[in-house]
Amino acid sequence: MKITFANPVQPLRGAVVVGVLDGRVLTDGARALDKRMGGALSRAIKASRFKGSKDHTLTVLAPAGTKLDRVLAVGLGKPADIDAKRMQALGGLIYAALATKGHASAQVVVDAVAKSSLSAADMAAEMAFGARLRSYRFAKYRTKESAHDKPTLKSLRLTVAGSAKAKKAYAGKDKVADGIFMTRDLVSEPANILYPETLAKQAQTLSKLGVNVQVLGEAQMKKLGMGSLLGVGQGSVRESRLVVMQWNGLGKSVKGKAAQPIAFVGKGVTFDTGGISIKPSAGMEDMKWDMGGSGVVIGLMKALAGRKAKANVVGVVGLVENMPSGNAQRPGDIVTSMSGQTIEVLNTDAEGRLVLADALWYTKERFKPQFMVDLATLTGAIIICLGNEKAGLFSNDDKLSNQLTAAGDAVGEDLWRMPLGDAYDKMLKSDAADMKNISGGRGAGSITAAQFLQRFVDKTPWAHLDIAGVTWTDKDHPTVPKGGTAFGVRLLDRLVADNYEKK
Ligand code: BES
Ligand code: MN
Ligand code: ZN
Repeated sequence: MKITFANPVQPLRGAVVVGVLDGRVLTDGARALDKRMGGALSRAIKASRFKGSKDHTLTVLAPAGTKLDRVLAVGLGKPADIDAKRMQALGGLIYAALATKGHASAQVVVDAVAKSSLSAADMAAEMAFGARLRSYRFAKYRTKESAHDKPTLKSLRLTVAGSAKAKKAYAGKDKVADGIFMTRDLVSEPANILYPETLAKQAQTLSKLGVNVQVLGEAQMKKLGMGSLLGVGQGSVRESRLVVMQWNGLGKSVKGKAAQPIAFVGKGVTFDTGGISIKPSAGMEDMKWDMGGSGVVIGLMKALAGRKAKANVVGVVGLVENMPSGNAQRPGDIVTSMSGQTIEVLNTDAEGRLVLADALWYTKERFKPQFMVDLATLTGAIIICLGNEKAGLFSNDDKLSNQLTAAGDAVGEDLWRMPLGDAYDKMLKSDAADMKNISGGRGAGSITAAQFLQRFVDKTPWAHLDIAGVTWTDKDHPTVPKGGTAFGVRLLDRLVADNYEKK
């Protein structure tokens, strides 16, 4: 969708959006429009139950005496409640309300609201961001969709005093949206199209933005001793890959400790059948998005490079397909990880941790990062804990953990910290190897999975985000349509912006 900003002009035709504050208080733009409509807007408001509460809307069609087709009044709620998250949600709501109504474009009239924490320009920028995020669609395989079902809205013009400021505030957000869209695209692709090799190719497209992308094949990984990752992929006819992406936004002037990168590591199981410990067939199609963690890391790198973030960032994704076959890993197999630690694979469906074990160790050894954050659709148990509302956060570092929680809160991607501890770690003790890949018990499945990962990070400050419950959504949200969410891109972009960028 095309987003433009312009200085205030009277809307004369087409579709127009104006704001109304809680208590039926018209904004300046709404009042001016109401006047031109001969008071029809305020009368319609009075005649309805629309009070301007947040997220409520009222539509007036083809008001007499004007050439306007549609006036959409949107509730801004109370001035004190106006913040970035609210304005993004409102933008999303406006997109959803207009997308399939037949209009190709619409004008959104944005006014300053007294006693709100945002300027009019920032309100406009946040609304634009929300609208663009909501406009995402994955429709490339629909060849027979009727025109009637397709969205018509192609461009949104936000008119606001000081539109140059709004445009500037929006520029970086647009790049973040580009990253989010890439993640959503990757997560939505089916596994016959997206497998380790093709996913790696997608990551390589980031080199256009100045990201250094390196793809390791199976021979190289074997040399490095990545027996844990390779064991997961060995049953598939698709070869495994490890992709390393580097964005050096600090340039050559920054040296030494300050130039040490921060690192993001993603689980990229392009399809998880469970392997020989095969999953039940019902719902198995969901496992195409078991590469969600890697999708977030790739989209995040795109966002950071796109907006030229002043930070050195490494993204590493371990890409495998977990399949049963005559060559597949068996329950009971013992593999040796790059760290030298041996693992008894008691359940081939607990494969994400096996992939991350080598990806984390490799990242730590090669880059000595300031910290590592991994993202993985790691356990069904985290969905039992937190549902689809929040992702699980596990960390050995309070500072990093607090920064992540704050960033999540700021962008509306909520995290909930879960415990780690020796008692859980002990549950991974194996009689045959240094550890087993499942506890074998029924409890604390997400924690023991995190505990397993912790054995591969040493002293590096580290956090693990279990995003199994939030990577995909079955219902529309204000800025996230049904489907792949890209949960984590906004959050980590914000983590970097707030804490790790040179000002
Ligand atoms: N990819 C799954 C976890 C998952 C489940 C993600 C549902 C999204 C939705 C993971 O590889 C897995 O199979 N985990 C097992 C671990 C168990 C065997 C210890 C699980 O959660 O059941
Ligand atoms: Mn699995
Ligand atoms: Zn999995």
